[in-house]
Amino acid sequence: MYYVNTVERTSSNQGVTRVISFTSGKGGVGKTHTVVNTAISLAAQGFSVLVLDADLGLANVDVLLGVQPKGTLHEVLKGNCSLDDILLQAPGGITIIPAASGIEEIQSLQSHEKMLLLAEVERIANKFDFLLIDTPAGIGSDVMYFNSAAAEIVCVITGEPTSLTDSYALIKVLSSTYGEKVFSVVVNDVSTEADAKVAFNTLSNAVTKFLQVETRYIGWIPSDETVRQCIMDRRPLAAEFPSTKAARGISDMAARLVDNARKNRVKGGMQFFFRQLLELSTYGKEATC
Ligand SMILES: Nc1ncnc2c1ncn2[C@@H]1O[C@H](COP(=O)(O)OP(=O)(O)O)[C@@H](O)[C@H]1O
Ligand SMILES: [Mg+2]
Repeated sequence: MYYVNTVERTSSNQGVTRVISFTSGKGGVGKTHTVVNTAISLAAQGFSVLVLDADLGLANVDVLLGVQPKGTLHEVLKGNCSLDDILLQAPGGITIIPAASGIEEIQSLQSHEKMLLLAEVERIANKFDFLLIDTPAGIGSDVMYFNSAAAEIVCVITGEPTSLTDSYALIKVLSSTYGEKVFSVVVNDVSTEADAKVAFNTLSNAVTKFLQVETRYIGWIPSDETVRQCIMDRRPLAAEFPSTKAARGISDMAARLVDNARKNRVKGGMQFFFRQLLELSTYGKEATC
């Protein structure tokens, strides 16, 4: 493990950082494992990737990657160090901003602290092709905050009814209060693609009918004992076992995210992302697009 002070864009993604949030409604569906391994797959496809662990209460991106945070956002906010000082270079060639201990919610920060934090994240993230955000589970304010500012929202679901109902509840709030109308969906921890399609269709039919929201299927990740073993060993699947079925599922999904980024420029870019975050946090405004 080593720390980086500077990061460079490694590919030409037309100079636009694609911001993608991963969200789930319910915890324990494999969101963090999906974020971490998607980041590594994107890096393997030649992109520079930054992961923001925004799950301030249950931070575990660093745990899954087997790296030890050097500092927290708390020190950055106190002005004792810069964000560069706490960036971590992780296995698979990705960079992470580990979650803070010492701050509870972005929303509860003073406005000068929010400005400092967002300015710092923007300065760093601008140098990357992708910023992936691991949002907290649930429907709290930080979940809404990050999802409504991202260019693409990826909802991670499983086939379990609780995952589907909690995702429905999350999508309902994001669509009715924050105006979000398009959601990408990945189905994790299922045996076959047919099972994945059943889960996707169940959610999709409900949100299309009752919420007038569009869901896009972007792939599936098989249940795989290697996933569990990698998490136990704190070694990322996509870096250690890229040819397993689960890693291939993630890699296919990552390729779709690249495709979406290339096709969809409507709601993208770091400037948009940070303008949205500032508006949401400073004025409590509802997003309109
Ligand atoms: N595709 C999968 N195959 C097998 N086990 C999985 C898979 N995805 C997730 N898991 C299990 O689910 C647990 C929770 O994953 P995690 O990424 O921490 O979830 P979340 O971030 O949604 O809380 C993992 O520790 C692992 O045991
Ligand atoms: Mg998690």
